[in-house]
Amino acid sequence: MIEKAKLKVDEAGHLSGERVIKSERKLGDIAGIFESEIEDNRFEEVAYRVEMHADEKEGVEGGLFFGTSYIFPGNVNGEYFMTKGHFHAKRQSAEYYWGISGNGILLLMDESGKCFAEEVSKGSVHYIKGHVAHRLVNIGEEVLAVGACWPSDAGHDYETIAEEGFSCRVKKGPQGPIIIENTSSK
Ligand code: NI
Repeated sequence: MIEKAKLKVDEAGHLSGERVIKSERKLGDIAGIFESEIEDNRFEEVAYRVEMHADEKEGVEGGLFFGTSYIFPGNVNGEYFMTKGHFHAKRQSAEYYWGISGNGILLLMDESGKCFAEEVSKGSVHYIKGHVAHRLVNIGEEVLAVGACWPSDAGHDYETIAEEGFSCRVKKGPQGPIIIENTSSK
């Protein structure tokens, strides 16, 4: 007997089926990641949404999670909307990202604080090795949609990034996005 697929993903990356979890982050939730203060009237603005398929409990060894992140276009005082960014709690855990639509930058940082970046666009595939922190930045005018697949026991260490930040920031320059050294304390 052939069963129907339990999970579907459409061209825009949207997931449908069982065990799909959706979440969103507003500017007010992630205010600390931007160099500038968020004005009070922007706290409710949605910076990004995440849809994920979780057929395992977080922490289960050997399983996988699958999802799509949607980072909206926008900026805070010239710094583009971006995800919180994280190392994996289990540092050696790797992850795949792939571009679905929009234009972005995958900001990466190793444990010594060295920063590097890759362009993200429709069809791009990014293998993020273990021990590397990752953050998505929307540098375009449209929604940046990015697929992801990661081990169910990888976990997320947001604290290290929340406390120490990334060593670089992506901002609007006169001719497009520029990557600059992070001189603030976050
Ligand atoms: Ni990750």
